[in-house]
Amino acid sequence: MTTKKKRKKRLRLRYEGVKFLTYFIFFLLLFIYTITNSIKIYSFYQYKKTDEYKIRTMGYSLEETKDFLKIIDDDIKEFLLTNPKEDIYYSITQEKYFLPKNYIKYIEYQKSNQNLSLKDIIAMVNVHSSEGWYNNTYKTDMSKKNLILVNKFYQLEEGYQRDDLVEIPLQYSYDDNKAAKEVVDKYIEMHKKVKEELGIHLMVNSSFRSYEEQNEIYKSFRSKGEAYADAYAARPGFSEHQTGLAIDITSTAHPYSKDFKESEEFEWLKNNCYKYGFILRYPEGKEKITGYSTESWHFRYVGVENATKIFKEGITLDEYYAYFIEK
Ligand code: DAL
Ligand code: ZN
Repeated sequence: MTTKKKRKKRLRLRYEGVKFLTYFIFFLLLFIYTITNSIKIYSFYQYKKTDEYKIRTMGYSLEETKDFLKIIDDDIKEFLLTNPKEDIYYSITQEKYFLPKNYIKYIEYQKSNQNLSLKDIIAMVNVHSSEGWYNNTYKTDMSKKNLILVNKFYQLEEGYQRDDLVEIPLQYSYDDNKAAKEVVDKYIEMHKKVKEELGIHLMVNSSFRSYEEQNEIYKSFRSKGEAYADAYAARPGFSEHQTGLAIDITSTAHPYSKDFKESEEFEWLKNNCYKYGFILRYPEGKEKITGYSTESWHFRYVGVENATKIFKEGITLDEYYAYFIEK
């Protein structure tokens, strides 16, 4: 082969090589482009099946949707996807003490009680007071020890009486008062501290009451009508006094509840009783939650740890139990 022919062949081969490479790169890019697009289309198709996509199509922002996804269950999902968006449907989830299991109840209760704050709605649904006093009642969980909950929804067995009741010495109490041993010990400790700091002598007026005794008390209030009785006294089986964990306190300086409420010893107890394991059980402003007119004398023992949390949170035992204990 002549040199000229050889060069021509080399050039043709080089040209064929470049042509092949160009086709190869073109088809490779086309392949990558097609695959990438297919993946994108497939991913979007999959995303459309997610709860996130469905909730977002109802008008909620990505942030709101992500928050919903943290609490979602079948009921919440169905609700959100079948009801046109309203601000309240999201804002209620941001309230303190919100419990996902009560979501639908909060919404229903809010619709028929628009005068109430969201804070009240949450509290009232959590503690059952939205259901109406004594409308639905449950046997209380006796395994909760110092936290046994007794209110207008949770009741004790008629014959229940704890076996560690002890007399409160007459130095600290008017006659014939008994309570659980731990309660009496902590009350005496608190009594001494009040004496030391304020020079005031606390006295227990009432403590453990049997089912029958509570029945008599309730009946005596009943003479003024059921609404009146229910505001001040528990129906038998529904009184904390039957647990042996509640004591009614006033002082020798202010034996009458009206004066006691204005006294420095009451102010002291309100702010310090948690250090001894007690809480003021029926505080002012919480009537919608406890169901009772405020009682400045009724203290409930729950143990120092629980009392401290309840005091710091500024909530009632009913709210604490619903949110932190029962779940
Ligand atoms: N006074 C309180 C509510 C009771 O009777 O137990
Ligand atoms: Zn009481």
